[in-house]
Amino acid sequence: MSELDASERDRLLRLNAEIATLAGGLAHEVRNPLSTIQMNLELLAEDLEEASDPKLGRMRRKLETMRRECGRMEVILNAFLQFARAGEMQRTDTSLNQLVSEFVEFYRPEATASGIDVSPHLAADLPLVAIDAGLFRQVLSNLVRNSQQAMPDGGQLEIQTSTADGHVRLAVIDTGKGMDERARKKAFEPFFSTKANGSGLGLPTVRKIVEAHGGTIACESEVGHGTRFTIELPITTSAKSPLSQ
Ligand SMILES: Nc1ncnc2c1ncn2[C@@H]1O[C@H](COP(=O)(O)OP(=O)(O)O)[C@@H](O)[C@H]1O
Ligand SMILES: [Mg+2]
Repeated sequence: MSELDASERDRLLRLNAEIATLAGGLAHEVRNPLSTIQMNLELLAEDLEEASDPKLGRMRRKLETMRRECGRMEVILNAFLQFARAGEMQRTDTSLNQLVSEFVEFYRPEATASGIDVSPHLAADLPLVAIDAGLFRQVLSNLVRNSQQAMPDGGQLEIQTSTADGHVRLAVIDTGKGMDERARKKAFEPFFSTKANGSGLGLPTVRKIVEAHGGTIACESEVGHGTRFTIELPITTSAKSPLSQ
C-alpha cells in the first residue's frame, strides 16, 4: 500500500467498499426468495406426508433433496453476510471474562447433550478491553461450533482468558480430531472447508473480526489430539484507545 499514492489508494478503497456493498446486497436479496421457496417446499412436504400413494416416495425424496440444498444455501448466505459485516464495529469497554461466562452458560446445555465437557478458565483481574461484544460472541460461537464438530463423540473444551505483555489472550482448546497440515494452512481461507455442509467462512469471519480490533489469531493443531486457537488483543480501554482520541 505504501507504494500507492493517496488518490490511487482512495480509489481502491472506494472500489473495495463498492464490491463489498454489492456482494452483501446480493446475498441479502437472494435470502428473501430463498425463504419463500423453503416455506413452499415445507408445505409441499406436509401435503405429501398425508398422501399414502407409494408412487409419491420418489417425489418425497426429491423434495427432501431440494429442502436440504436450500438449507445449505441459507447457511452459506448467512455466513457470507456475517463475514461481510465483520468489520462494522461498536467498541465499548468489555469484560472478556463476563462475555465468556455468559457464553458458556448459554452453550452448556448443548455441550452436555453432545457429550462435551466445557470448562472456562478465567484469569482474575483481567483488564477490560474495548471490543464489540456482539462480534466477539460471534467469534466464540464460530470457534466453539468448530470444536463441537471436531468432537462428534464428545470431549473436552476449554475456554481460557489470560494476560500477556500488554495483551489480553483468549484461547479455545478442544480434544477433537485436529487438523492435518493442509487444513492448518488453508483454515483461514474463505470457502475452505473439510465438511460436507461447511460454508468455509467461520474462521475467515473470526480472523476479520480479530484483526479489525488490532488483534491476532493463531492455530495449533495435532491430528487425533486436538486444536487450540489463541487470540491476542491489545489492551486498549476506550480511555486509552487511539480510536477515541
Ligand atoms: N477446532 C477444529 N478442529 C478441527 N478442525 C477445525 C477446527 N476448526 C476449524 N477446523 C478446520 O478448518 C476448516 C474451516 O473452518 P471454518 O472456516 O469454520 O469453516 P466450516 O466450519 O464451515 O468448514 C474446517 O472445515 C475444518 O477442517
Ligand atoms: Mg465453522
